[in-house]
Amino acid sequence: MFGFGKDDTNALTMNQPHPDSLLDTGVQGVISKPLDRVDGPKKVTGTATYAAEYAIENVAHGVLVSATKGHAKIKAIDADAVKAIPGVIDVITDYDTFIRNSQQGGETSAPTQGVRTIDYFGEIIAIVVAESFEVARDAAKQLKVDYEPLDGTFDYEANKGEAEPAPDGLIKGHYDQGDFDKAFENAPVKVDVTYTTPSQNSAAMEPHASIAVWEDGALTLYGAYQMPTSDAQQLAKALGVAQSKVRIISRYIGGGFGSKLGIAPESVAAAIAAKQLGRPVKAVMLRQQVFDATVRRSNTEQRMRLGAEAGGRIVALGHESITSNLPDEDFFEPVGIGTHFLYGGENRRINHDVVRLNWTLSGSMRAPGEAVGMVGMECAMDELAEAIGMDPIALRKVNDPQQDPELKVPYSSRNLTRSLEEGAKHFGWDQRQAPGQRREGDWLIGMGVAAACRSNQLQQSAAKVELHPDGSATVSSAMTDIGTGSYTIMAQIAAEILGLPVEKVTMSLGDTNDPPAAGSGGSWGAASAGSAVYLAAERVRERLAKAMGVKPEDLTLKDGMAIGDNRSVPLAELVGKDGLSAIGEIKPGQQEKQFNQASYGAHFAEVGVNVVTGEVRVRRMLGVFAAGRVLNAKTARSQCLGGMTFGIGTALTEDLIHDPRTGKLVNHDLAEYHVPVNADVPQLEVHFLDERDIHANPIHAKGIGELGISGAAPAVVNAIYNATGVRVREMPVTLDKLL
Ligand code: MOS
Repeated sequence: MFGFGKDDTNALTMNQPHPDSLLDTGVQGVISKPLDRVDGPKKVTGTATYAAEYAIENVAHGVLVSATKGHAKIKAIDADAVKAIPGVIDVITDYDTFIRNSQQGGETSAPTQGVRTIDYFGEIIAIVVAESFEVARDAAKQLKVDYEPLDGTFDYEANKGEAEPAPDGLIKGHYDQGDFDKAFENAPVKVDVTYTTPSQNSAAMEPHASIAVWEDGALTLYGAYQMPTSDAQQLAKALGVAQSKVRIISRYIGGGFGSKLGIAPESVAAAIAAKQLGRPVKAVMLRQQVFDATVRRSNTEQRMRLGAEAGGRIVALGHESITSNLPDEDFFEPVGIGTHFLYGGENRRINHDVVRLNWTLSGSMRAPGEAVGMVGMECAMDELAEAIGMDPIALRKVNDPQQDPELKVPYSSRNLTRSLEEGAKHFGWDQRQAPGQRREGDWLIGMGVAAACRSNQLQQSAAKVELHPDGSATVSSAMTDIGTGSYTIMAQIAAEILGLPVEKVTMSLGDTNDPPAAGSGGSWGAASAGSAVYLAAERVRERLAKAMGVKPEDLTLKDGMAIGDNRSVPLAELVGKDGLSAIGEIKPGQQEKQFNQASYGAHFAEVGVNVVTGEVRVRRMLGVFAAGRVLNAKTARSQCLGGMTFGIGTALTEDLIHDPRTGKLVNHDLAEYHVPVNADVPQLEVHFLDERDIHANPIHAKGIGELGISGAAPAVVNAIYNATGVRVREMPVTLDKLL
């Protein structure tokens, strides 16, 4: 990826800290400001073009066909009957379970001739292409498939005894440190509790959609993808064509939340159909297909064993989880990922086991690991605090380690305790009463707290910055904006360093013809692509200094003027008739090994529980977050609001249900799978601590996208206990479990 094109390149591998940042010395004054989204007007006027909305001439409409068995062999597909329907162009069954493995950015299976074995209910087996969407949909429903049923494994409860150790991956499948069993046995205070969370769906608003256009043996795919650079690689592999022959354009994406990290079936189906038919093909997954055949977050069962001294110090920390996935899949929900570094304790056991089920592929969704793992961890901490008779915040402070308890390396920056303290102050934590004590009419009121943490990553990314002869600039990168604010923060970084009003910066994102980037995932997007913009702008700035005849450190850029050496010159005069451009490239290095990098925070929730109906209403929530430099106070806040909202979902509403006879998802749409709606979400308050991380990257920002969800659910669940004195350990906490 390094060395994109022939442009002047400013590359940085993070092997050393980067203490000086041009974002601190810039005088334009736009960085960190709560600017409106630069893409906002386009979105609200309907002129932001999403994948399915490109007006492509002569496009044919494809509708995917879903298997109606949970595990079976396909004996025959009667395509002819459907092809005879007026308006139907073709029925294509010519692709295999390419979706398997592809979601996690790993190996994509090579194309084969037709799906033969169905591994889960709803797996995509064909695409019907017609002159109109309506005809295609009708024909897809009529396609007759002859199956030979196979024995399958569909019931989690009946099969969890067969769970096997997860393979080492992002984190170790099994981890043991010290002598956990002995330490737990001898601990003066103990908690041994099991929490469960159900399968979940990302539930992005925009369904997965692709339009495939072939021209001279090269594919342009208008798609809704989070990581176009690696998605194009996967797609090329799935199609058996050279990487250079696939271009993905994902300029606007209506949410991804993990489900659009890797390619989904509609892109491959559309691409194969378009090639075969010699005309563009559009395929939009039906809502139910998005649920059935992209990815789900695995259900989790988490046994928490915490052993502590009387003063609260943890001596034994056990977090053992069972999750589920299809046979032979390497991915597992990394339930204990945050547990590895959130609290101290010398004796540790963090294990992940996987039961193999014929259920929809399990993959990354909204903070894989922490979002559900912290339900176990942070609710168990609440239980431990009570067992000791200690305030839950005090317990967390006692266990806030000075260094990573496993790797024994320092934290690059860590403000958990400060987040808890600030939050307690703003929230009025001192008003909290003993469980079941506070009542207002028919409502029991309670308060809960939980830590927030999300590991920080830097991913290799590049961006180009061009300064044009008229003094305006363009930033381009194959980075994406999945609703997060990338367009805006990347424009702000360039504007700050080049001394331009943000309106003078034009953004181009989501096109693999632009410099490659890691895209949006794992909360790394802003820091990674943002650092690439930083480096590109830094190089342009150096060349402006040269043109001025001053040293870069003696140059001031503001409002389109270059100031130095007692002169003030418009940028337009300095750049020359060809303009100035540079590529910036960032790559992780030793700093990720020498420091544990993570963002932190604290969640506070107040709930009311109706004593008659058991209904839970979240009354207010407050989050304090420390994620390095905040690049835009408004979009950062919005990220946290979204995360907290999804935390309410995990705690109270989201529950993807599998039929234990077939694995079929019975509530596979937004009417039946409940994400919190406005009426479920009260006033949410978000505070940021002023923090910089010089070990993370040159912009000193850490991941924020998934921080807001990590720990939000347990704060709500702990508040329910404080309100009622009833511990519900099975998510979501629906009213039946409280009565
Ligand atoms: Mo995220 S689940 O890495 O989009």
